[in-house]
Amino acid sequence: MNTNSKSGPDKNGFPHYMLKEIYEQPEAVRETIEACVNSAGHIALPGSGISDAEVKKLRKIDIAASGTSRHAGLAGEFMIERMTAIPVEVDFASQYCYRDPIVEPHELAVFISQSGTTVDTVAALHVARKKGAKTLAICNVADTPLTRDADAMLLTYAGIETSIAATKSFTTQLTALFLLAAHISRVRGSSNAAVDAALRKARRLPDEIESVLKQDQQCLALARIFAQYESFLFLGRDIDYPIALEGALKLKEVSYIHAEGYPTGEMKHGPSAMIDESLPLVVLATRDRSDPASRLRYEKTISTIREIGERGTPVLAVISEGDTVTPKATPHVIEVPDVPVLLQPILEVVPLQLFAYHVAVLKGRDVDQPRHLSKSVVVE
Ligand code: AGP
Repeated sequence: MNTNSKSGPDKNGFPHYMLKEIYEQPEAVRETIEACVNSAGHIALPGSGISDAEVKKLRKIDIAASGTSRHAGLAGEFMIERMTAIPVEVDFASQYCYRDPIVEPHELAVFISQSGTTVDTVAALHVARKKGAKTLAICNVADTPLTRDADAMLLTYAGIETSIAATKSFTTQLTALFLLAAHISRVRGSSNAAVDAALRKARRLPDEIESVLKQDQQCLALARIFAQYESFLFLGRDIDYPIALEGALKLKEVSYIHAEGYPTGEMKHGPSAMIDESLPLVVLATRDRSDPASRLRYEKTISTIREIGERGTPVLAVISEGDTVTPKATPHVIEVPDVPVLLQPILEVVPLQLFAYHVAVLKGRDVDQPRHLSKSVVVE
């Protein structure tokens, strides 16, 4: 079970659970994929009590979760809407359970949680059930208040996560949401060549995560440069915005440095006023070369980096392998493999986890047990 105690499984030679769990992501993602996809590429969601007939009738999907799990839900919104054309709404579980949400016929309500014990997420599930929604729990623990009370369950296979900062539970949640979207899209006959290609490429994710982990020393070097700053802005467009939120949350919770996630395109609507040499930006600047919309977003992001760089603001950019343009705009870059846009979050978050980890260690923080936090918020 996931607890808030200092004891836990063996650290396996790693100095902290957080680092160990970051390194366990290739295996965790592999297990999550293998539990749902057979060698012929057929997706079956074990434990999912939602029939194909119900999937075909779906008109709306609501997602509610807390913290990192909500960030997974925000990325899932892009995955589900793009692959299935079903409208998706994402909320904080703590908001959903008190806002008297409108639940319509043929609506699926999805609740995402590592622990399955987060009080707000369980309360949100009860509200949705009471209002007649079909409910699905995406959870890392099989027998929990959340999974017991949901109509259906989709397990993630992250294994025990001991560090309070969620890492491998997040990447497995993203993987599960991608597979859920692909499943719904196939059942409804809306699957297309791009979805099938992304699904084939998803099987390579564990190897791609391994290659990102090889840049750990580069993340440490960047942490040494940036650890002195007192505040950060994390920027991302489209499906990268939830990863900007998650990168900021990781840095906040383990290093206690102020950090905000923002959509890149919103900078000129206010945050630009704060920009100077004392406020570094962490920018998600990846692109999927085969996707024109992704290329356009990338070009706009490069303009933002250039414009901001001219004001002396230090910029750390997460870029796609082979990008020779961004390194001319900022010397501080980390590369991730070039993958379909809907899979990018699963790779992009890894260097941000490593960056947050190294900054926290450099600042002498209690990485696995940050102050005032618990692994699962079981009381309001
Ligand atoms: C993540 O690093 C946090 N510790 C926290 O935001 C967490 O994701 C949140 O409390 C939700 O927990 P759950 O996934 O177990 O429901």
